[in-house]
This record gives sequence, C-alpha cells and structure tokens, in this order.
Amino acid sequence: MTTTLGTRLPLIQGALAGISKASLVSAVSRAGGLGVLTTANRSVERLSESIAAVRAATDQPFAVNLMLQQPNMAEVVPYLIAHPVPVVTTSAGTPKRFIAALQAAGTKVVAVIPSVKVAEKMAALGADAIVAEGMESGGHIGTETTFSLVRQVTAAVNLPVYAAGGIADAAGVKAAEALGAVGVQVGTAFMVAHETSISAAYKAAIVAANDTATVVTGHALGDAVRCLKNPLTDAYFKAEAAGTSADDLHALLDGSLERAIAGDLEHGTLMAGQIAGMIQGTAPAATIVNRLYPQ
Ligand SMILES: Cc1cc2nc3c(=O)[nH]c(=O)nc-3n(C[C@H](O)[C@H](O)[C@H](O)COP(=O)(O)O)c2cc1C
Repeated sequence: MTTTLGTRLPLIQGALAGISKASLVSAVSRAGGLGVLTTANRSVERLSESIAAVRAATDQPFAVNLMLQQPNMAEVVPYLIAHPVPVVTTSAGTPKRFIAALQAAGTKVVAVIPSVKVAEKMAALGADAIVAEGMESGGHIGTETTFSLVRQVTAAVNLPVYAAGGIADAAGVKAAEALGAVGVQVGTAFMVAHETSISAAYKAAIVAANDTATVVTGHALGDAVRCLKNPLTDAYFKAEAAGTSADDLHALLDGSLERAIAGDLEHGTLMAGQIAGMIQGTAPAATIVNRLYPQ
C-alpha cells in the first residue's frame, strides 16, 4: 500500500524553514513518511547538494518546500522544473504560474492552505493533495483551528487532505482521520528529532514547554508567527503596544529564527506549535514516526 504521494505512510514532515535539511528529510523518508526539504535562504547550489544527499541516503520519495514569499523563488522554481523531485509542497501563496510545469516534469504538488477558500482555489488549479493547516501550528499561521478547518476542507474538496497543526502522536492521527483527512503533516514533533540540526538549547525549550507556552507575534505586521514565549516576544509585545513602527518591529524580529537555531533563547524566535507540551524528549526521527503510526 502506498499513498498518492508514493509513501508507505500518509505522513508528511512539514517543512521547517532553515531547519529541515537532508539528515532529517532522509530519516523521515526512510521511515516511511515524506521528508520535506526547506529552501528558505538556500541557493540553488546548496539545494542541489541537499537533494543529492537525500537521494544518496534513501530511494524513498521526498519533497521540496516552496514558501512562495521567499526571495529566491525565481531561481529555485526553474531549477526544480529542470531537475524534478518527487513532490513539491507550496505555502504562503499560489503556485499558479508554475504548477503545470512542475506536474509536466513528473512532480506531485501539495498545497498547504489556511482556509476552505484557498483549498478550493488550489483544487481548481489541479493540486495533487492539500494540507489543511490550523493555527495551533508552529511558525507562520492562519486564523482557523485544525479541528474546524480540516472538517470543512475535507467536505469541500475532492482531493486527499492532510491535517496539520497540533498533531504529535497516534491519537492526533486518529482524530485527523475522523475528520476525513487521509493523513497528517507534522512539524513541531520533528523539531526534537536527533537528525534535526538546531541547537540543543532550542530542543530543550520545546521539551520544557507546556500547553500554554506559545504566543503569536506579528499580528500588527500581517505575518502571524507562533513561537515559544521568551524575552524577545515580551519585548515585541511591549513595542507593539507602544505603537512602534512596522520597520522597527521588523528590525526586532529580523534574523531571529537563525538566532534561535544557533541557541539564543533570549533574542531568538523559537517557532513551535501548541502541541509542544506533549513532547517529552528528543528521539530519532524513526521513533517519532512510529509514535504517529505505530507499526
Ligand atoms: C520551526 C518551524 C518552521 C516552519 N517553517 C515552515 C516553512 O518554511 N514552510 C512551511 O510551509 N511550513 C513551515 N512550518 C509549518 C510546518 O511545516 C507544519 O505545517 C506545522 O509545524 C504543523 O503544525 P505542528 O507544529 O503543530 O506540528 C514551520 C513550522 C515550524 C515549527
């Protein structure tokens, strides 16, 4: 049995900006899920090295994520059309201009969406599958909760729907299936995989987090981001309440994910979802996959 994406399990490891590199991606794909490479801040040369590293480590399908607001889209998209990968996931925009070219090259296109309206648009464009991502998720988020969104998306579109946001174990997978999803996309739980290249301090902060540990910054900037509450988020909310300009708010946040990745828990944006409270420790990616889909 394989999914429409060619994987043994209906599990997508959600793209993790600047984080989901070849080691995590190949470990997830080897374990039966779909590993997804980040392209954030990556040159085509670095991306091609990562793709080669994944291919050397596994013959299983994997994906490349296109966050459509990224400045490097003009180089990455033609590269992926010329050098096709099994799956591309798209987020934060429409793949309208290049979806047909990717599919003609043999690539399946999976659209990550925050609402029924966008899901319907992606279905009309010919997407192969949909990820319905609720606002419980870590990172950039929409406004709807997973529970409400997934059910309405599965009722609205005639495509395989993967549920994302707040899922870290087999109980979450069952809940997603009950709402009509064929499978799940998981981000936060994979942040603490042994193969994930972030600082030990960032992983420890996710393990220490409880159910109410996250906040959402960026509302004033039209770019909501869920992350762990820390001195940076306190400073951000203080500045927002004081009417600080958008430029100065951006300046506070610029480069802050990179700082978190490097282990700066005070000045970094520790992107993580509400399910962080369920995460009890670091583990190999294959163990995390097995908690979601016990063999
Ligand atoms: C640190 C971090 C970075 C993320 N970066 C991206 C990204 O670059 N592109 C994307 O489509 N989604 C991104 N996401 C969202 C995940 O792919 C996934 O949909 C989400 O984490 C699922 O919810 P969960 O965190 O509750 O598991 C990110 C999430 C986190 C936690």
